[in-house]
Amino acid sequence: MAAWVVFSLCAASLSLALTQTSFQVPLQPEQIHQNDSDYHQFKWPIRKVAVIGAGVSGLVAYRELVDAGLDVKIFERDEVPGGVWHYSDETQGQPPIPNVDPQVADFVPSLPPPNAPLPHVVYHNDRNDNTGVTSAERWRDHRAPHGVWASLTSNVPAPLMKFNRHEWPPGSPWNIPHLNLQRYLRSVYSFYGINANDRSPHISYNTRVELVEKRHDSFGNEHGWKLTVKKLERLSPSSCKEKWWTEDFDAVVVATGTFNGPNMPNIPGLIEWHRRYPESILHSREYRRPEMFANHSVLIVGAGPSATGIAADLNPLVKRNVLSWRQSERSNTPVVFLNLLPQGIEVVVGIHQFHPENRTIELSDGTFLSDIDEIILSTGYRYTFPFLPQYHNSSIKGNEEGPQDQPQPIVTDGTHFRSLWRDLFYIDEPTLAFINQNLNVVTFTWGENFAIALAKVWTGTARLPSRQTMWKEYRDWVASQGGYGKWLLFIKWQKQEEIVSFFSSWLNTAAYQFGGKQATPSDPNERELLNVWGRAFFANSNPVKLPSTERKQQFGGHQQQVDSLEYAHSLLAYFTSGY
Ligand SMILES: Cc1cc2nc3c(=O)[nH]c(=O)nc-3n(C[C@H](O)[C@H](O)[C@H](O)COP(=O)(O)OP(=O)(O)OC[C@H]3O[C@@H](n4cnc5c(N)ncnc54)[C@H](O)[C@@H]3O)c2cc1C
Ligand SMILES: NC(=O)c1ccc[n+]([C@@H]2O[C@H](COP(=O)([O-])OP(=O)(O)OC[C@H]3O[C@@H](n4cnc5c(N)ncnc54)[C@H](OP(=O)(O)O)[C@@H]3O)[C@@H](O)[C@H]2O)c1
Repeated sequence: MAAWVVFSLCAASLSLALTQTSFQVPLQPEQIHQNDSDYHQFKWPIRKVAVIGAGVSGLVAYRELVDAGLDVKIFERDEVPGGVWHYSDETQGQPPIPNVDPQVADFVPSLPPPNAPLPHVVYHNDRNDNTGVTSAERWRDHRAPHGVWASLTSNVPAPLMKFNRHEWPPGSPWNIPHLNLQRYLRSVYSFYGINANDRSPHISYNTRVELVEKRHDSFGNEHGWKLTVKKLERLSPSSCKEKWWTEDFDAVVVATGTFNGPNMPNIPGLIEWHRRYPESILHSREYRRPEMFANHSVLIVGAGPSATGIAADLNPLVKRNVLSWRQSERSNTPVVFLNLLPQGIEVVVGIHQFHPENRTIELSDGTFLSDIDEIILSTGYRYTFPFLPQYHNSSIKGNEEGPQDQPQPIVTDGTHFRSLWRDLFYIDEPTLAFINQNLNVVTFTWGENFAIALAKVWTGTARLPSRQTMWKEYRDWVASQGGYGKWLLFIKWQKQEEIVSFFSSWLNTAAYQFGGKQATPSDPNERELLNVWGRAFFANSNPVKLPSTERKQQFGGHQQQVDSLEYAHSLLAYFTSGY
């Protein structure tokens, strides 16, 4: 999450006149079961919940659902908790060029043969395996290493990157090295007895969820969800065991993070360039250290935190360091980060076309780059939930909706997800939920309130509007955001106050009415904290030479491009001027 967004939280936090101490109101069972058609009625009781993913979001979901008395089990494909914050030198390898369908942008589900008795087990030994895939490669693809590089530190201050009741030790840095975040997360998982060495029945590590489908009772009525999962056990460096089984649950929380399917942009000539120079292209997900680029000329495509962070990391070692900023309309890029780039980085405009025949790259202002050794596509990620193929439909374009007689899609072109009420509950079946999947969500602190919402709704101590009302509210919201696209899930600062206020007032009203936990109120000290952090973060701001607006207007003609430069400078002024 970009640090600048966090600043707007302080406005939200101050505006909330919330009670600072939680209180309990005795539960009145008759209040829970009001037969009120204004509210959603669940088709089956919810007792057993699956959580997919053991990162920040998996932990908050687990904690709140268990606290509410539900029987919870987490499935995690990796061998340890932490998600993005489990750093490894190992990388996943180059994603396919061009982009594959979003449904398989993370992985192609691996299922047992049809009708095979379960559990189904297969052993692999590299000595006699004729598939051409080694056990090491099976493991790497199963766990999927993330896009954190060796020198990365958090761009959100430590006081906002922590769970309630689990403080950082005194003296901890505010820009947290990723290894500290990894240790922190593991220690909190240990605190709840679900770390990898705890052997808890409530979490299954090395286990990837391959398929989530509706379950039916003996009368053919829908009744919960069936998960097909695969556990991969490494028996030796050259052998492994795969085991598939199914488990039934009443509800499912998807806590798989947002950054699983790299976006490989469809820029003219990229496919041909890749065919000719396959080793020269990588995605930011595969970047770890600058040494392998020493004395090379590198082109970084994109201007988000990955692009600017990698450019800065590379800068001392590379011969030429070029960053291409396309400045698209309705961009979410926090351009203020460009001001943090060290001297020596050339910021150029977007790419018009790759010309592999003479190894040149044509920019949209008509100039050319030559002698580029590597291209690091720091072009972000796409939404992908391969274990939910029934809710993917890439044939639906732009603002089209899915066929009315079928379940509405959750992913279409991968730029956003949809059909969720408050980005949390799948409207057509709210026993399926997604947590912390927006862009710019403050995962630790907001995540707790999202998890409390899941726990309350599923235990009947908060209520969802009727399906019809949820669709209406949702459609009004999509329209207010300007329709479907990457921007839909980007939480603009104007929206942050609304989100924090909505969840606090909804959940705390429910706590008053039905009893149970209160949502965490915002910390009034956050404003001052963010002011201090902002001053420090942007203290060494370096006004790099950005492409001039006149030139951009000649070739692009979008007012937006001019605006974004002014926007960058106004943001910088805002952050550094205090309050
Ligand atoms: C390079 C980078 C830097 C970042 N820096 C910051 C920062 O400084 N500050 C900040 O606040 N945020 C930052 N973020 C955002 C970061 O994603 C959040 O901080 C947070 O880690 C998200 O937690 P999560 O649990 O939602 O997702 P993740 O951390 O992605 O965890 C998801 C988990 O789900 C598991 N999983 C996925 N699919 C399956 C499956 N099918 N079956 C079983 N398990 C599965 C994964 O293995 C993973 O462990 C950064 C992200 C990236 C990519
Ligand atoms: N802690 C840290 O220091 C750190 C470091 C890295 C990442 N992160 C976090 O990780 C997350 C992902 O960040 P990210 O930078 O990888 O992704 P991102 O924020 O989505 O940025 C992607 C960039 O690529 C550009 N882009 C997309 N498609 C393109 C195309 N076809 N041609 C040219 N440019 C294109 C985007 O421009 P448009 O805006 O025009 O689409 C944008 O500038 C964020 O939450 C971020 O905060 C944190």
